[in-house]
Amino acid sequence: MKGLVISSLLLPLALAGVVPRAEEKVDYSGFKVLRVALPESTEDIEAQIEELAAHVLNPGKSAHLDVVVSPENIDAVTALAAESSVVNEDVGAALAEEGEFKAYAVPSESWFTAYHSYADHTLFLRDLQAGFTGQSELVTAGSSVQGRVINGIHIWGSGGKGSKPAVLIHGTVHAREWITTMTTEYFAWQLLTKYSSDATIRALVDKFDYYIMPVVNPDGFVYTQTNDRLWRKNRQTLSSNSCVGRDINRNWPYKWEVPGGASTNPCSETYKGQAAGDAPENRGLVAQVNALRDARGIRLYLDVHSYGQYILWPYGYDCSLRPDNDAKLRSLATSAASAIRAVSGTGYTIGPACSTLYATTGDSTDYTDVPGNATYSYTYELRDTGTYGFSLPANQIQPTVRETWAGVVSMLQGA
Ligand code: ARG
Ligand code: ZN
Repeated sequence: MKGLVISSLLLPLALAGVVPRAEEKVDYSGFKVLRVALPESTEDIEAQIEELAAHVLNPGKSAHLDVVVSPENIDAVTALAAESSVVNEDVGAALAEEGEFKAYAVPSESWFTAYHSYADHTLFLRDLQAGFTGQSELVTAGSSVQGRVINGIHIWGSGGKGSKPAVLIHGTVHAREWITTMTTEYFAWQLLTKYSSDATIRALVDKFDYYIMPVVNPDGFVYTQTNDRLWRKNRQTLSSNSCVGRDINRNWPYKWEVPGGASTNPCSETYKGQAAGDAPENRGLVAQVNALRDARGIRLYLDVHSYGQYILWPYGYDCSLRPDNDAKLRSLATSAASAIRAVSGTGYTIGPACSTLYATTGDSTDYTDVPGNATYSYTYELRDTGTYGFSLPANQIQPTVRETWAGVVSMLQGA
């Protein structure tokens, strides 16, 4: 019965003949739900009962009518009916049992003290967005091999939605790099929860439109939670080989064909795929990059990985080639590394990706730098340098997300 009462409240009030004074909520104290049988072939009696009732709960053809009736109209309705019974004695009391709505709770800092399931990460974004509906919305960038939507959040400031150059941030490209999920979520959380109280953050939110995608490899991430904690790639299969997975960071369709920076062996951790951009995740991400390029342009792209403590910029596919703005890329990375060191003493190595770490082909930052025309593109490799590696203890989540955020803030200020 309660279900019926609740659903009745979804009907427009005017339809039901209850017209509350402006802005006033209907008080159903003392209202009853009556189940009435109508006398035969008396359409106008049905009409009269509906006139007297606040709501009809079962509109349409039915053997009886369930109607919500105010205390003063109960006798009149009962008199018109051939038969009637009381289904609910006090609608107001029934509604009160539903409980008050809880004030909306934005995820708190304690989120960043533990790792979470994929389902909870999805909820985190939803809950965060719901707390800031005026300056954020959920966005997607295609879907995975297994059909999971690649979720993200778009955050904007005083200029309004989509009015500023984009800052695009991808996390959890590699499934086992769990600290990157937490860190990219922390960026979004900081931007939204500090907007009104922190002038530095407000200026950064007003300066750019942010697109933050904490888990761009959802199938792989789920697989690390259900099957193999150290899985890296997506979960794409091949008919010709039983090995699973393409490396999403070797599948981007720019210089994909250059030899040496990826594997052609499906069993390898860095398997590049059969063709440039043939992973569904890459198709979605490429479309996202292209769309942002074609809208307001991409000012800053960050691909967040772990581990090793590096800040790297293009190119991955060629160890001697440098972008035109190499000096500026280096100066932003230098300032980010010193901001990180100032928070915690954590030391980062910075440099062009290929010459500093190793060669990669079909990687994200080469794509965003050239086809994506992003002004600045970086790969972050977060903590640590190998002691714990991919399974950084939970008590390092907060220190890591905080120091990394300091680095990113300094980049945003200079970008
Ligand atoms: N470790 C990451 C990967 O293997 C990032 C590579 C950065 N690019 C590079 N050329 N080292 O995908
Ligand atoms: Zn990685």
